[in-house]
Amino acid sequence: MKPNEILEGVRQFIATNQSAFIDQLCDFLRIPSVSTDPDYREDVCEAADFLARHMKDIGVAYVEVIPTRGHPIVMGHTELDPRRPTVLVYGHYDVQPPDPYDLWESPPFEPDVRNGRIYARGAADDKGQLFGHLKAFEWMHQNGVLPCNVKFVFEGEEEIGSPHLARFLAANHERLACDVVLVSDTSMLSLQTPSITVGLRGLSYFEITFRGPDRDLHSGIYGGALLNPANALANLIASLHDPMGRITVPHLYDEVAPPSPEEHEVIEYMRIWDAKIQEEAGVLALSGEAGLSAYERIAFRPSLDVNGMWSGYTGEGSKTIIPAEAHAKFSIRLVPNQQHEKINELVRKFVDANIPKGIKASLKVYHGGDPYWLSPSSLEYRAASAAIADVFGKRALPLRTGGSIPVVSDFKKHLGAETVLLGFGLDSDAIHSPNEHFGVENFLLEIQTIPLFHWYYAHLKQAGR
Ligand code: BES
Ligand code: MN
Ligand code: MN
Repeated sequence: MKPNEILEGVRQFIATNQSAFIDQLCDFLRIPSVSTDPDYREDVCEAADFLARHMKDIGVAYVEVIPTRGHPIVMGHTELDPRRPTVLVYGHYDVQPPDPYDLWESPPFEPDVRNGRIYARGAADDKGQLFGHLKAFEWMHQNGVLPCNVKFVFEGEEEIGSPHLARFLAANHERLACDVVLVSDTSMLSLQTPSITVGLRGLSYFEITFRGPDRDLHSGIYGGALLNPANALANLIASLHDPMGRITVPHLYDEVAPPSPEEHEVIEYMRIWDAKIQEEAGVLALSGEAGLSAYERIAFRPSLDVNGMWSGYTGEGSKTIIPAEAHAKFSIRLVPNQQHEKINELVRKFVDANIPKGIKASLKVYHGGDPYWLSPSSLEYRAASAAIADVFGKRALPLRTGGSIPVVSDFKKHLGAETVLLGFGLDSDAIHSPNEHFGVENFLLEIQTIPLFHWYYAHLKQAGR
């Protein structure tokens, strides 16, 4: 089959089955697979079982649910011919917690289709996007036109930092051997301006505690004579940025790679983004490293954010105390070629060197991940680009995102394979927020694009180009 026949065939398949596909996806979305909250443990397992059952239903030759110390990994494969290249499809079936409940216009685990969108927690991140791959596989399998061997690996712990997947990849690298990894878990600029993600940021995540007096003290009796841990921690956090908006941790920028030549044009084009970002975020002004556009700040530069801070009295009314402790969680998004383990050490050194007298400090380092970049001139990217061009009638823009999928760098490390980030969401899908949704159109365009990716990848690969 040729690309135009594939496209015609898949479009026919969608026209006939569209409402069944949406119903199936809604059944998947109804399972509250919140990975971070132990109360949902059973539900996460149920989502894994649902996936495994569905994969068998659509004809995946071999399917297995593999337990881990955390949530299960669902694997599957259909291998037709060892001479053909192998595409490993990755996705995550776990979701973020749905709260705050009050802000949802329809309940998060009762999917609602309205305004051409499917509203539910996980609709875009990542159950809907994962499900598109199964529908695409179903069509290729039904019609006997699988151009590549296909493997699937779906995890239930992405939203908590994939604590078990990297080890699983290392231990099973033979079973998971592949030529390329294909992931739909990012967004496009818009359906009018399709884009393919070529960069992900990495992550380092910390929790810091400052301890002062051994109990909360009267701020009149003691105030002014000893260091308040909340004041001191606020001070340390403020000192993490200089007036030019740069992070002050020594050597933090040492390994930051400049944009590649082919990305300069994209950076120019993306200046239109500043106004959109400001409007979307609902802020009065943008801020960050001096002299850079929002796209450059988000996609090409590291950023440090406090994610939460607490100390002392935060209840109704007032209480005049010097708190005994102060806490903050903060994280740094990393860009190529920063490495999260090195960054963790730099931050530890910075904190150690800046603990004021009278404070006992402790720094906890959480699980992080490395950034990733795929060259737009790579064979992998070009296969994706050809597929997008056929479906959208336009060339895709190679864009880096500010988000992270830490396991992508592990695919390269443990399987030696590049990852194509062919995402079909939009930044406005409200992932991690109330009223998360996935456009029906986005879902259907994904189902059309995936079989073409498999086709172009097989053909470019076999031609050795
Ligand atoms: N799918 C997102 C990552 C993403 C979001 C990429 C938007 C591009 C655009 C993923 O599920 C996610 O939320 N990742 C976390 C990683 C963390 C939990 C280790 C993130 O980026 O905060
Ligand atoms: Mn995701
Ligand atoms: Mn997410």
